[in-house]
Amino acid sequence: MASLSQYLLLLCSFTCLIHSSRSRTLVLPLAKDASTLQYVATVYHGPSLDPVELAVDLGGPSLWLDCSASSSASVRRVPCRSIACLAATSDVSGLRRACAGGACSDCDVQSESGAAGEAACGVLAEGAVAVDAVDGSGERSVAAVDRFLISCARAAPGFGAGGVRGTLGLGRSRISLPSQMATAFGIRRRFFACLSASEGVIVAGDGPFFSHLNADISKSLTYTPLATAKSTRSSDYLINLTSIKINGKRLSLNSSSPRSVKLSTAIPYAAMVSPIYSVFAEAFAGAASAMGMARVPPVGPFRVCFDPRSVSATGVGPDAPAIDLVLQSEMVRWRIGGSSSMVRMSDEATCLGVVDGGNGLESSVVLGGHQLEDVLLEFDFGGSRLGFGPPSAGQLGCSDLRPGFNSMAFPSL
Ligand SMILES: *[C@@H]1O[C@H](CO)[C@@H](O)[C@H](O)[C@H]1NC(C)=O
Ligand SMILES: *[C@@H]1O[C@H](CO)[C@@H](O)[C@H](O)[C@H]1NC(C)=O
Repeated sequence: MASLSQYLLLLCSFTCLIHSSRSRTLVLPLAKDASTLQYVATVYHGPSLDPVELAVDLGGPSLWLDCSASSSASVRRVPCRSIACLAATSDVSGLRRACAGGACSDCDVQSESGAAGEAACGVLAEGAVAVDAVDGSGERSVAAVDRFLISCARAAPGFGAGGVRGTLGLGRSRISLPSQMATAFGIRRRFFACLSASEGVIVAGDGPFFSHLNADISKSLTYTPLATAKSTRSSDYLINLTSIKINGKRLSLNSSSPRSVKLSTAIPYAAMVSPIYSVFAEAFAGAASAMGMARVPPVGPFRVCFDPRSVSATGVGPDAPAIDLVLQSEMVRWRIGGSSSMVRMSDEATCLGVVDGGNGLESSVVLGGHQLEDVLLEFDFGGSRLGFGPPSAGQLGCSDLRPGFNSMAFPSL
């Protein structure tokens, strides 16, 4: 059976050869929707490559589009007896043949749902999808894939919220956007993401990516292997967690069951399963009190809040207890500092920005938007590893990184 990559390569041989000789960087600028707290990406779609806004789903398996507004010229349904249908719904892809019952003419698909996620139903189609690109000399273009595989949704969660027309899956699947772009343009199967409180940028391609900064910051990342778990979608980005420390002190978590951390753009703040949250929140409050932080009544959705006047400020945010997620060894830690842990709710309360996720959470810890912001992330799904680190050696955040890409990709802005 032909694999999807062979299939995509076949499609690609007509469109991609023209471009493949030049180095290019694909650039996807993101905006953060202030009401939904979702990151919104703009891609181009259809015969005239019209802009379409999509909510980013970091671990999502595919591009889900509300095709009801698409003309028949912009998407063509993929027949159920086709290599594309077979390949897109094979085990590794994160899509399932589903929502069956109708005649077998279309390729009915369903997204894999995690313990808490809802499955979305649709039909597989193909159409042109493009993103902005810039070549080594700074010349702009769009990188278009003419026969991009799209899941046309019947009904999918989150559609219409904030005016988006669907969701953009960036997950570890054969038909996520980074995966189809990598196949089409012969680039490495990885992308960098840098999110901030108001915007963000995703880049992929040959690099160098950060040459507009003085140093190649991508060289200073820490790496941890990507893991998989039955409880989440196979396209999700997960890493194994061995322990959690607060100000260097290990939490006593009494379960020996495997623990994992999921990275998600679907939730604005981190969540932990109840048994871990209760130990974590108590330890954090204790460490904060030892630092002179004064508790105030909780402000929903958070439970642990402090008087902002009792929290000192540093150049990189509030001076709060340091949280370390200890990964594959004691040496490999994801540090969550005050700017990522604390959320300023009002002049009266600044809160620990982590919520009790109950018992149904699909991972022990889910890092949400606030914790992923101002971290440079490398999603190396080809190499099954995640890189993370500060966006620069100085005190720059991701919003300081973005203008360099703006000027590369959008000189007119
Ligand atoms: C993650 O942990 C699980 C369970 O302990 C283990 O089976 C798996 O190999 C680990 N994955 C990685 C990438 O270390
Ligand atoms: C340990 O597990 C028991 C039973 O599951 C639970 O009642 C207890 O609260 C747990 N203790 C901690 C510190 O997590």
